[in-house]
Amino acid sequence: MIINFENQQPLIEGVSINDLIEKIETPFYVYSQKKITESFNRINIFNKTDIFYSVKANSNQAILTLMKKLGAGADVVSIGELKRAIEAGFDKNKIIFEGVGKSQTDLEFAINNNIRQINIESFEEMGLINSLGKKLNKNIDIGVRINPDIKANTQDKISTGRKKDKFGISIELIDEILTLVKKYNNLNLVGLSCHVGSQIHEINVFEKVFNKMKKTTDILKKNNIKIKFLDLGGGFGVTYNQEKKLDLNAISNLIDKTFRNEEYNISIEPGRFLVANAGILVTKVITSKKNSDINFLITDAGMQTFIRPALYNAFHKIIGLNNNNKKDIYTVAGPICESSDIFANSIELPKQKSGDFLAICDVGAYAFVMASNYNTICLPPEILINEKNYSIIRKKENISEIIKKDIIPDWL
Ligand code: LLP
Repeated sequence: MIINFENQQPLIEGVSINDLIEKIETPFYVYSQKKITESFNRINIFNKTDIFYSVKANSNQAILTLMKKLGAGADVVSIGELKRAIEAGFDKNKIIFEGVGKSQTDLEFAINNNIRQINIESFEEMGLINSLGKKLNKNIDIGVRINPDIKANTQDKISTGRKKDKFGISIELIDEILTLVKKYNNLNLVGLSCHVGSQIHEINVFEKVFNKMKKTTDILKKNNIKIKFLDLGGGFGVTYNQEKKLDLNAISNLIDKTFRNEEYNISIEPGRFLVANAGILVTKVITSKKNSDINFLITDAGMQTFIRPALYNAFHKIIGLNNNNKKDIYTVAGPICESSDIFANSIELPKQKSGDFLAICDVGAYAFVMASNYNTICLPPEILINEKNYSIIRKKENISEIIKKDIIPDWL
């Protein structure tokens, strides 16, 4: 937890959250640079393994700049994320572009920018890149994302490596991949990649993935294809509730054991692990009310600010920022006109009243990036804290900006 209480004052790295509340209108996201750095250092223990930060988890330019400073590359999944990574100054040789639906424009942009590698996810995409290579008179380095048909034992909606999932090319089609690699003259197969899901805690899932990927590289070797890069994806689980801390030493030993004698360079693409536990969302209780026997607290943050609980039923700890010793049981809900706009059901909190503040915890990943303007509500500001200093790293939108984007046709 990044918040600690001193004399009942909530602090992050010595910065008073109450001071922030006085200056900045809620709801807002706050991230701790120290916590991100700690998480980066915790996972940066695998031998000969490069870290490519999965930009989708939190793509603020300040966070990207921090990741670059820490030594990460960038794993991007859209032209927007690619432009963000370039703008943040990532070495183009440390950018991997993937995603199951890249358009021709996206691919041309990536090719023209000479990034390290484009991971393809279908035979059609392979053909398209080859024809773009021909057109541009270039040989293009690609990786192939393999669908290894492995169950990640995580939430169904964030599982990506089973046969039935839309991602990657089935491992069973390896012969066809090889045939096409030989046929297409403007492609170099330089890498393999995979990603079987997010928030994975079971070591044996990582073990299965590593073994399957090793076997696949062996098949390539037999066919005289020596890859340069093996990308093992992200998925490293964090603690939101009672989950045990991920045993990174065990994963490190597995990487050593499986790939000890291999010459290719290994990479991982953590997103959540680096940022999830480093963020909180500060929100104000707008109204308290009782329906049936339920004490509702209605907050100024809603599912449009932070959608993980509504979308995945995800647990996020909520704490009261006031210092009331009396407790009560509350259901914390947002202001949106949807019954799924609930952050937590029947949780114990210090007694609350309208105007009090709550912190929703562990929201550094897949939180702001998934926020929307639903109900015409502005995207919230984001703040980064570093050793007693804070900086607003994204301004709050204003409503007229949102309205101005709409165009009324002249026949109305
Ligand atoms: N690499 C690829 C190809 C991915 O698709 C993802 C995440 C990652 C790396 C990073 O995974 P991580 O280390 O963060 O688990 N919105 C969902 C999570 C979706 C993850 C999508 N892919 C959530 O809020 O739980």
